[in-house]
Amino acid sequence: MEDFFPDALLADLKNLVNKKSGILIKGLKLECLRGRAIDRCMQLSATPEEFISRLSGNQHELGNLVSGLVNQETYFFRDRAQLAAFSSLLKEVAARKGGAGDRYLKVLSAGCAAGEEPYSLNILITESGLFAGWNVNVVGVDISRFSIARAREAVYRENSVRLAQSEAPLKEKYFNRMEGGRLALKPQWKNNVSFRTGNLMDEGTFDGLANLDFIFCRNIFIYMQPQAVKTITAHFRRCISPKGCLFAGCSDLMDEVLTGFRPVRTRGGLYYRMG
Ligand SMILES: C[S@@+](CC[C@H](N)C(=O)[O-])C[C@H]1O[C@@H](n2cnc3c(N)ncnc32)[C@H](O)[C@@H]1O
Repeated sequence: MEDFFPDALLADLKNLVNKKSGILIKGLKLECLRGRAIDRCMQLSATPEEFISRLSGNQHELGNLVSGLVNQETYFFRDRAQLAAFSSLLKEVAARKGGAGDRYLKVLSAGCAAGEEPYSLNILITESGLFAGWNVNVVGVDISRFSIARAREAVYRENSVRLAQSEAPLKEKYFNRMEGGRLALKPQWKNNVSFRTGNLMDEGTFDGLANLDFIFCRNIFIYMQPQAVKTITAHFRRCISPKGCLFAGCSDLMDEVLTGFRPVRTRGGLYYRMG
């Protein structure tokens, strides 16, 4: 296999993926990259050089490759401590903005995988009862168009909905059970949520997003080099509101590169505030 995709070309491919998506590929992951690239070359009947050239101008090809290198595993209501902090902040935002007659709530879920995170946030917003009659907008972005297609479909395996035993009735409240045991999110919980395919490294991905109250970007920076995190957080700074909050994953902590964001510690969690 090394003969078909030699080390020198693998290094070119790694550098291209890194430059374009921010994802750092090293160690054993390099062999995964080679394996996925070989599979794709076979499907396309392309040489490695042709595949690399195709990748540099085709975001969907890049998204497809990246999604196989990053753990896609996620689930509804992931990291309860952070979500508890989010729910407290919702009260603050409702009072502040509602008092000023600004009834827009805008949330970005960056790297939203198959939609578990943006839908969870929308459920919490709706269940808070604080935003009835508001214009609520939750946007999910991911580089993988397969993930975005799954997010729009909103049908999940049981493992994506890990609720405590005491919360079991919520499963019936939020989902319709389908044949084969899969869970389809009920339409009312999809209201307010929209999706787009996009690379967080590209400024254009953020077109039309402004004054965001919350940005969630969890469990992605861990795969990236600091320079990529800097690029992405610069994009975030341009579209977040001056009082907005950024939630990164617990393994993503990168205080030193999150310029312009101030860490706020909560019980069992952490988020960043602008300013
Ligand atoms: C581990 S999942 C995180 C899902 C969710 N945010 C969570 O915390 O559970 C990482 C997601 O980031 C996406 N991703 C990786 N690099 C990206 C990039 N440069 N732009 C947009 N999405 C990216 C992957 O496709 C994947 O769906």
